[in-house]
Amino acid sequence: MNGATGGSTRRRVFAANWKMNHGPAAARAFTRDFVARYRSDADSDVIFFPPALSLAAAIEGAGEAPPFRFGVQNIYSADKGAFTGENSAPIARDAGARLTLVGHSERRHVFGETNEQTAAKCAAAERAGLTPLLCVGETLEQREGGETESVVSSQLRVGLSDLKDPLLTTSVIAYEPVWAIGTGKNATPEDVADIHTVLRAVLAELLGDAAEGVRILYGGSVTPGNVSRLLMAANVDGVLVGGASLEVGSWLSICSASLNL
Ligand code: PGA
Repeated sequence: MNGATGGSTRRRVFAANWKMNHGPAAARAFTRDFVARYRSDADSDVIFFPPALSLAAAIEGAGEAPPFRFGVQNIYSADKGAFTGENSAPIARDAGARLTLVGHSERRHVFGETNEQTAAKCAAAERAGLTPLLCVGETLEQREGGETESVVSSQLRVGLSDLKDPLLTTSVIAYEPVWAIGTGKNATPEDVADIHTVLRAVLAELLGDAAEGVRILYGGSVTPGNVSRLLMAANVDGVLVGGASLEVGSWLSICSASLNL
């Protein structure tokens, strides 16, 4: 099978979350090299989330009309004002972002972001015409306590609850178990398929038939070696990748995984 995922018309998503890596010079060099070597696949979307200060350079390195899009890793929930150090959704949009991560586990667990704050950020993204890529995921403690399904379901429900037009705005979700991020530990494809099925059922309750169009990504220690197995799991429409997206060769081989399925 090539491109779109199991029996549906959903295009696969390959999203690179560079976190706090690659300053402007490295970002420019990366996208310049990537665009020269990437064989565009009509059934996949590639998205880069560089640090905000490197966004312009990453876009510049990619040249005219690159076959991928850019986003920011975080926005503040207000559109403008006295919020020293923050970036708003309209500023991100003006700077060339088309998406924003919301509720990444590091935002939740390092910076204390709550479900209610993720909801306000999704709403801010919607107002500015940015697609929120809402991340959900349980901690090891929650997993061991049997709470995974209830934790991720409520992160999803609350995160989307302030959207004015969830049917149009909700297009990408990422499931990232906190214990699998940057640890080298993967959830098994079976575990991932189970949770993605739960998330799609919640989306169906919220969005009706339109839920079928939402892409649900997996994230957490994805590598060139395990990406194909993860992409073959039911309801997995792509991957959100940290560490293995930082080097052009490794990121290229992840983005080409669809071609080999
Ligand atoms: P990782 O990070 O691929 O380094 O585990 C994924 C993420 O945090 O988005």
